[in-house]
Amino acid sequence: MPQRDLSHIVVAGLCGSLSAGGSTQRVLEVALSGAQEAGAQTAFLDLRDYQLPFAGQVKDPKTFPDVVRLSDELRAAHAIIWATPEYHGSYSGVLKNALDLMGFDEFEGKMIGLIGIAGGALGAIHSLDHLRSVGRQLHAWVLPQQVSIARAWDAFNADGTLKDKELETRLKSIGHEITRFALLHSTTAQDFLERWEKAAENPGGDQ
Ligand SMILES: Cc1cc2nc3c(=O)[nH]c(=O)nc-3n(C[C@H](O)[C@H](O)[C@H](O)COP(=O)(O)O)c2cc1C
Repeated sequence: MPQRDLSHIVVAGLCGSLSAGGSTQRVLEVALSGAQEAGAQTAFLDLRDYQLPFAGQVKDPKTFPDVVRLSDELRAAHAIIWATPEYHGSYSGVLKNALDLMGFDEFEGKMIGLIGIAGGALGAIHSLDHLRSVGRQLHAWVLPQQVSIARAWDAFNADGTLKDKELETRLKSIGHEITRFALLHSTTAQDFLERWEKAAENPGGDQ
């Protein structure tokens, strides 16, 4: 079967941790590599690279060039993976602030993938539940599959790779799945559906 060209699909990863080389950044990179394997282009959005105001602090956040830049990059993506550390039973404040500066323009109708990582044994389930609710509020399509990682401090080898190969596969599958569903929501698929809907009825359908 010919390989489908998915290079027009852009998957962005929004990293909810400011720790350089931290666990959130690393697992997000693994998930994005899964999207690349599926044929998509990817963009890693590192919030350390943006000078953002606090949401509500200024009347028009779009007067901040980095708010506009983040908005442009998110709008250019067909799908976005939100990755967060678990902080006090929820997702990080820095991710919350970035999401609050954005809105329907950036997320409505988009595919969203969720990854959470925590220091404790219970993983980042609370973060993921809370982010799923934010995605619904923004009218985004949040993938049912998600990855919650426990004991972040014990998850990596000295060279930064994941100890658990099955976890690596699950992270990559978030990248694969989000690319596949983004394709289904892409213009190409919509064109196909429109043609399908306009097509003559199956003459055998009523018999
Ligand atoms: C302010 C703060 C709050 C945290 N709260 C929790 C928590 O509620 N549950 C948990 O399991 N880990 C908690 N942790 C641990 C982080 O989730 C964990 O260290 C994570 O890997 C940090 O991600 P990073 O390496 O990208 O910074 C907390 C860490 C910080 C700094």
